[in-house]
Amino acid sequence: MSRIPLVAGNWKMNGRATTAAQLTTDIVAAVPAGVEVLLCPPLVYLDTVVAASRGSQVRLGGQNLAALTDGAVTGEVSAEMLADVGCRYVLVGHSERRTLFSEDDAVVASKFRRALAAGLQPILCVGETLAQRETEQTEQVIDAQLDAVLSDITAEQMSGVVIAYEPVWAIGTGKTASPEQAQAVHAHIRARLKACFGIAVAESLRLLYGGSVNADNAASLFVKADIDGGLIGGASLDAATFLAICQAATAK
Ligand code: PGA
Repeated sequence: MSRIPLVAGNWKMNGRATTAAQLTTDIVAAVPAGVEVLLCPPLVYLDTVVAASRGSQVRLGGQNLAALTDGAVTGEVSAEMLADVGCRYVLVGHSERRTLFSEDDAVVASKFRRALAAGLQPILCVGETLAQRETEQTEQVIDAQLDAVLSDITAEQMSGVVIAYEPVWAIGTGKTASPEQAQAVHAHIRARLKACFGIAVAESLRLLYGGSVNADNAASLFVKADIDGGLIGGASLDAATFLAICQAATAK
């Protein structure tokens, strides 16, 4: 089954309104066909990106959402608010949220369900630490992260879900998983999805690799059978680099 590759730029907590607008304008001007391109700016710049990408195919996503519904929840942004300003996707369970903000599997599962309820497509991030990889616990860790969130989700609800495999040791470190290491985990995730939701769902879902993807290594990762694009951090802050990564995904 052919899956349209997806390349998502996770800008994290970087930039200002002017740079957000410029980056979006530069990306929109040269975005290649044959790949879905998603920008996840800081929440306060969502509108800036909406304005600069109007009329283009570039999609908008949130980096985070509240685990609760609208109401007396100071400082949070709900799934419905993200959808209201034009987001189609939202990151859930990014390792920085898990580590810096102590988001455990239960919180990640609540956020995932809130995203689905608001009609957003969650991008569920999973990945092992270096210590876990070195002690051969990678598959066990990934399975636990997947099961904690997906165990009471139906096959129907899974349509549109994206899974991002992001080894924690590769995020922002310049150390990328080799294409073979990444493919092995992606194949494992797809097999797990098949066991839980059936072959049609497993074959239709996009599995992204994230962790120090750059313009030089993107093609060698994206060529692998179960890698359907990337979640890009640092390299998404430079338009030319990000566009080169998007271009590499069009060869799928
Ligand atoms: P990186 O970040 O590309 O800077 O390693 C990836 C991510 O955290 O999504």
